[in-house]
Amino acid sequence: MKKGRFLKTVTSAVLAAAVMAASLAGLTACSSQERGQEAPELKWWQETVAYEIYVSSFQDSDGDGYGDLNGVRQRLDYLKELGVGAIWLTPVFASPMVDNGYDVSDYYEINPLYGTMEDMDNLIREAKEKDIRIVMDLVYNHTSDQCPWFAESKKSRDNPYSDWYIWRDPKPDGSAPNNWRSIFGGSAWTWCEARGQYYLHTFAKEQPDLNWANPEVRSALYEVANFWLDKGVGGFRMDAIPYIKKPADFSDGPADDSEGMVSIHDMTANTEGILDYLHEFKENVTQGKDIFTVGEANGVTAEMLPQWVGEDGVFDMLFEFSHLHGAEVWCRAGDWSLRDMKKALSASQKATSDNGWYPIFFENHDNPRSTDVYFPHGADPVLAGKAMGTVLLTLRGTPFIYQGEEMGMRNVSWESIDSYNDLNTYAQYETALKEGFSEAEAMEFVHRFSRDNARTPMQWEDAPGAGFTSGTPWLSAGDSRTINAALEENDPASVLNWYKRLSALRRENRVLIDGSYTEMLPESETVYAYVRENDSDRMLVLINFSGEEAVYDPAEAGLSDAENAQILFCNYEDSKARPGVLRPYEAVVIRDNTRE
Ligand code: GLC
Repeated sequence: MKKGRFLKTVTSAVLAAAVMAASLAGLTACSSQERGQEAPELKWWQETVAYEIYVSSFQDSDGDGYGDLNGVRQRLDYLKELGVGAIWLTPVFASPMVDNGYDVSDYYEINPLYGTMEDMDNLIREAKEKDIRIVMDLVYNHTSDQCPWFAESKKSRDNPYSDWYIWRDPKPDGSAPNNWRSIFGGSAWTWCEARGQYYLHTFAKEQPDLNWANPEVRSALYEVANFWLDKGVGGFRMDAIPYIKKPADFSDGPADDSEGMVSIHDMTANTEGILDYLHEFKENVTQGKDIFTVGEANGVTAEMLPQWVGEDGVFDMLFEFSHLHGAEVWCRAGDWSLRDMKKALSASQKATSDNGWYPIFFENHDNPRSTDVYFPHGADPVLAGKAMGTVLLTLRGTPFIYQGEEMGMRNVSWESIDSYNDLNTYAQYETALKEGFSEAEAMEFVHRFSRDNARTPMQWEDAPGAGFTSGTPWLSAGDSRTINAALEENDPASVLNWYKRLSALRRENRVLIDGSYTEMLPESETVYAYVRENDSDRMLVLINFSGEEAVYDPAEAGLSDAENAQILFCNYEDSKARPGVLRPYEAVVIRDNTRE
């Protein structure tokens, strides 16, 4: 952290109480009325489409092989055409990049790989001119071990920062304070000689957890958020939020692996009292401002959502993972079923139907590509990509497109583990070997779940460097011959054009924004069907996730008059779609004309 800023935080320790008390209630939001939109009760971020940019892999403007802020600026028009109104940037703060930016060494500096503060200011301004808001990724649970706060904290047990992280004495035999396993594998504790103590890290050892119980820490973090709000950002994605509060009890948990360790997630996630901290965050940072917050909250269930989002909640939206196919330990992942996914989605849709709002997502930088996860091997990738995009853009909530999803980008399956970059991929590979799987089996888990699947460079063109960089990309690109933006822009039947058209359909048909959601055919194991309905319109969405034809009863699916139904969209791009039958991977959006 810059020296001045570092000193400022020392002073802020003294001023903590005053900062915490600062009331922001006087600030009023720019309402949707002021923005000239029809439905005054909805906010701009409820009506728009959001887009996640994994900055390292989006667009390189200077040939160093890393994406950067000026690269994002070059592509604003591309995003505008997709109907994007908010860009979530993965962390752009200074970082040694052990976890690709999720290890922050200075919250007030831009990572030089990505550009300068001036580039960031320009990006915020230019995006705003196009009615696109920049949303920052706030890493609040931990910093980098290179952060000056930690550098001070680890020096001794009695310096001004000594209580900013979570330090504990060893067990009498000198071993770690307890048996918690970090999310990236191995003990969640690392020994520090200078203090003769261990520090806790939920993730990698280079990501020490901040001590949220210390008001000075909370105050410093709120100050960070307010600094970026003053720069005009449109909101925050709140990283790894369930872990910020630790339980009072630091004793061993029941072992769940062959080494006698227990997942730290099971011991610390969503600890009682966490919402008190987050209400304080809301009061000191976000309340009354025309921005949005979306928390990343693994383990928060649909039933818990009302406490987290909405008027009396702490955030506007919450990424919970109940509908995704994944696992903390990849080699223990169960099978995926459409029934489970539908159940989870419907539960979240219901929980946010009149309180809070839902962020719809299937991909992000931590999950593999959806075409490879939710469709059988060998499924037609164009049909599958469009089918997934249909769910993403027609459920109730704000769609979050993850870069490349809109063109149907796919997983990679590199032969050697050495080709991968992600530290969790290496940890999971080792875990699989320890659990008795062969090298080939361990590589299969990597191919299925590696976070690098989604982190490969954006495929802008069929060119060396995929049009992403003129240099050598930091991570190899996937196959850009058949999937790339330039090609798809010129093909009316491409996944990219499907996204653009559906995004426009959503903009032009309020029912897709404010309409209610009712699941139909819940027993079907292959078809996901739901009705979106408001006072003036009614649409039925049907998606066949299987490679077999699916026959259904239109009345049961909610179409009272199938004869007069109007098929607005069909991913086969022909005129053969008929109510009552879905071809393999067919997705249709049907308007029920009986409402007119
Ligand atoms: C979040 C991020 C992930 C990161 C982790 C630790 O889950 O999405 O990429 O590794 O937090 O910060």
